[in-house]
Amino acid sequence: MAKGDYERVWRESIEQPEAFWAKAAADIDWFRPWDTVCDTSDAPTTRWFVGGEMNTCWNCLDRHVKAGRGAQAAIVHDSPVTQSKRTLTYDELLDMTARLAGVLKGLGVAKGDRVVIYMPMVPEAVAAALACARLGAIHSIVFGGFAANELAVRIDDSAAKVVISASCGIEPTRVVEYKPLLDRAIELAKHKPEACIVLQRPQVAAALTEGRDIDWDEALAGAEPAPCVPVKSEDPLYVLYTSGTTGQPKGIVRDNGGHAVALKYSMRAVYGVEPGEVYWAASDIGWVVGHSYIIYGPLLHGCTSIMYEGKPVGTPDAGAFWRVCAEHGVSVMFTAPTAIRGIRQQDPDGKELAKYDLSKLRTFFLAGERCDPNTLEWCQEKLQIPVIDHWWQTETGWSIAANCMGIEELPVKPGSPTRPAPGWDVRVLGEDGHEVPRGTIGAICAKLPLPPAAFPTLWNARDRYVSAYFSHFPGYYETGDAGIMDADGYIHVMARTDDVINVAGHRLSTGGMEEVLAQHPDVAECAVVGAADRMKGQVPVGFVVLKAGTNTPPETVTKECVALVREKIGPVAAFKTCAVVNRLPKTRSGKILRATIQKIADGSEWKMPATIEDPAVLDEIGETLKDLGYGA
Ligand code: COA
Ligand code: AMP
Repeated sequence: MAKGDYERVWRESIEQPEAFWAKAAADIDWFRPWDTVCDTSDAPTTRWFVGGEMNTCWNCLDRHVKAGRGAQAAIVHDSPVTQSKRTLTYDELLDMTARLAGVLKGLGVAKGDRVVIYMPMVPEAVAAALACARLGAIHSIVFGGFAANELAVRIDDSAAKVVISASCGIEPTRVVEYKPLLDRAIELAKHKPEACIVLQRPQVAAALTEGRDIDWDEALAGAEPAPCVPVKSEDPLYVLYTSGTTGQPKGIVRDNGGHAVALKYSMRAVYGVEPGEVYWAASDIGWVVGHSYIIYGPLLHGCTSIMYEGKPVGTPDAGAFWRVCAEHGVSVMFTAPTAIRGIRQQDPDGKELAKYDLSKLRTFFLAGERCDPNTLEWCQEKLQIPVIDHWWQTETGWSIAANCMGIEELPVKPGSPTRPAPGWDVRVLGEDGHEVPRGTIGAICAKLPLPPAAFPTLWNARDRYVSAYFSHFPGYYETGDAGIMDADGYIHVMARTDDVINVAGHRLSTGGMEEVLAQHPDVAECAVVGAADRMKGQVPVGFVVLKAGTNTPPETVTKECVALVREKIGPVAAFKTCAVVNRLPKTRSGKILRATIQKIADGSEWKMPATIEDPAVLDEIGETLKDLGYGA
């Protein structure tokens, strides 16, 4: 690392993307070399390493075993909620993965078929993803905090041939039985998977449906290991559904080749980590962070990846993260600011942290939501190592902006995820599509072509891909985030430009919640906004207008609305606050003024919109928010 390296590397990546990424691609094993590094003939899609053939599972496992890494820990499962720890070496993970791939093959799963994975944080879930990759099948992992309905939507959209699941997940206060949720989802789905492979955990024995469900242990015991199937670089590796704009989630598609190249590259360039070191992303495999940095990044790089089944606090205390770092010798850690806010609330002076030997911990990364300077500064003070905020999205698969520790450590500016990562030509645009002056807020966009690992399309929704992300500013990817680039080229992400809210690092759509509230028989109209929350960053707050003549008491309706969102979207929505109002504030053309409601809820400055139909309605909403404890 030398001064000026960042500028040089970043410039090279933008001015000579083909040479830059071809060099990075040499770190991946290819069965057949590519003909074209970057193909933009189907813009806005960028295809990387066209003509190349490889296998992501080979690059995560077989390659390392062949190179002598077989006895090294691949996954360390640390599970305070089950009071157990378990290490799987590369040899062991390869064996489990190859045998599971054999089971899937026996079920008729072949290249291009979809497999839904609905599993808690257990190493078998990693093997499940890799087994799909091994066969060239496309996995779609669904987060355990989603309700059966959301799982059904994903089974339908992906038309999954097989589902891989487990009997349960464990939350600190309850055991979440997955199998009844899966059964319900399959009942709700129009598309019926042919088979379900179920991992029975000791806490709950799931009832298996004859003719459809298969016991994981039994199936693997007699399974023939399956070899890696070469796939095209641009063949999909996975589909990960994420929220945005409507209740219908977007199926983010990830390719094999570009993804492997970018993630392998990012491990050293962004995180400054070396093969053989211990890396920990404290997230969940159901989110993009878990896909990229619990499963693929660390394994592509030959690291040991920590898989933590627990919470930052309460399992058993606010020292849990530091215990894991000390016990397993973590070099680089990554979590969401919300987790740190939780720890800090319970251990403001870092007394728990002081109990552990953190001498191996070199860098601490944060992402998933805006990192408030207080949280960043608390980590800096307590850890006394670089604390790096970086910004990325499900769509991009890795960071758009970061302080790239393997290139050059730039000065940290609290509130900013630093400068664009290599390959990302970030521009802040005004409504007219032109760049705004430095320091002025606008839509944060990335000039095409997008670097490897960025999504080439949406599953079965190419038109939506183009219209949602590339039509507003032709030639650019619209991130959906608004912010500024300052005089030093640092990016500051300020807000979303759509209906996405970020609740405890989880991305949710207020539009999706509104669709659920509208299903309540007594609700005529509704609005959901994300209000600032000290712990979770944002929480959803709902307003409903009752149908004329409704006799149901308002408190019954709001209770039912809360229960309905939990039932339809899941506990992860954290929808707990809902109020009945007489009217919703609207423009004269009938548009609900959600942004203004949000500003009032946050107690930030707001202006009476010139187009408002009736200003008195905003006063009423202000009063309601006050009653709910917001807006002070
Ligand atoms: N399965 C089932 N239910 C789940 C779940 C899962 N995997 N994960 C969360 N839930 C439930 C919780 O039990 C909770 O239910 P409740 O309403 O009955 O209490 C609800 O969903 C909300 O969960 P959450 O918002 O996660 O709150 P929490 O108090 O359980 O945990 C944090 C708070 C901060 C520890 C947790 O949100 C966290 O680790 N966030 C980081 C997110 C992250 O990694 N994002 C990816 C980007 S880095
Ligand atoms: P997800 O797709 O779930 O990863 O969520 C992506 C969204 O989270 C981004 O579009 C941002 O709105 C927000 N986000 C993620 N990381 C950061 C960050 N470091 N700073 C600000 N916002 C962030």
